[in-house]
Amino acid sequence: MALTAEENRLLTEIGPGTAMGGLLRRYWHPVAAASQFDDRAVQALRLFGEDLVLYRDRTGRYGLVANRCSHRRADLAHGYVEACGLRCSYHGWAFDHTGACVEQPFDQTVNPSSRFRDQAAITAYPVQEKAGLLWAYLGPEPAPLIPDYEPFSWEGGFVQIVFAEIPCNWFQCQENSIDPVHFEWLHDNWFAALDGRPEFRSPTHQKLAFDEIEHGFVYRRVRADTDEQNPLWTVGRLCLWPNALFTGEHFEWRVPIDDERTLSVMWAFEKVPEDRQPYRQERIPAWTGPVLDEQGAWIISHVMNQDFLAWTGQGTIADRTRELLSPSDRGIVAIRRRFFADLETVAAGGDPKAIVRDPTGNERIELPIIGKEQLAGPLTREAFDERRKRLTAAGFPDGYIFQAGQPDHVREEWEHAMGLRDRP
Ligand code: FES
Ligand SMILES: [Fe+2]
Repeated sequence: MALTAEENRLLTEIGPGTAMGGLLRRYWHPVAAASQFDDRAVQALRLFGEDLVLYRDRTGRYGLVANRCSHRRADLAHGYVEACGLRCSYHGWAFDHTGACVEQPFDQTVNPSSRFRDQAAITAYPVQEKAGLLWAYLGPEPAPLIPDYEPFSWEGGFVQIVFAEIPCNWFQCQENSIDPVHFEWLHDNWFAALDGRPEFRSPTHQKLAFDEIEHGFVYRRVRADTDEQNPLWTVGRLCLWPNALFTGEHFEWRVPIDDERTLSVMWAFEKVPEDRQPYRQERIPAWTGPVLDEQGAWIISHVMNQDFLAWTGQGTIADRTRELLSPSDRGIVAIRRRFFADLETVAAGGDPKAIVRDPTGNERIELPIIGKEQLAGPLTREAFDERRKRLTAAGFPDGYIFQAGQPDHVREEWEHAMGLRDRP
């Protein structure tokens, strides 16, 4: 059943003052990687239609503040950091991580007793680091906890964080997290076609189920080559609440930049073979991949790039008044219903789904994982080689299979971790 224009608007408008923006702001969102601040201290960031600046000061503390200096509205993205926080490069006013103005050099010189700076605070939001990601909370206090998902404490693996800016609304990206059938066509069959095997057909989907659980919605499937004993059916995969996909070895968050753009944030874990253990990663690398190639065409060589293309192809903001939903879309209907119900819960003063507030329930939160032993347990060299061969045979690109544009230095760090080359 297609949505009304009003329902479509409710799900997709996320700017300041909107209902869905207000709902999503009640969760922590990963917005950057800590390692990005090793070589630059200040980063402009737009989130939920607000222009912000994320910085790491000289004591190592992070701040997320509005981008406009309260003096004459210079852009604080061009400011510089000191121990006290972020200093505006225009006339030197300085702001700390709470947004308080802590220095007004000229004003304090001519009038040392003045408290004029108390009127000069700017908007600021809390930032926390977890799993190499920087998480921001833009909602009302008291802030909940950042969920401590179990893979964040897995050991002996190579983690990387990958970003992309997607030129479409967040919700169509997230609906893809509960869309099992697209794997067959957008990925498996398309990879084969791109690989010169257009007659190839991936095992067809035969049966689907969608179940709501505490941390999201699970989708389960039986394919022509699997049965109800297969973990694809007994475990399934997770549309992680409210704006992510969890596949077992990686998370993909879809963080709203504004109504028409989404920040894709991937956190991916890959176990290092046992002949390289104990392995301890010194620094989690982060990189941003392109969505268009040098000619301006969409990149379709990698799994997530195919997703990005599909999402953006639905329109900048998909028009859900003109859809023809089919039985494969029951999960999409279910998550829309949950959001509509939660919008009412929030309007009535309650917490929406999957908010974590109890610290005792926030240790290594278990999520459904297919093949957890293979992902997180000991990995033989043979199994590692076998997996690489299988991916190559299936037409996956060489190197990092999920997203195009991995920088050479990350590739080299990965190869070194996996024992494929000497230290870069
Ligand atoms: S505009 Fe920032 S100090 Fe003047
Ligand atoms: Fe996909």
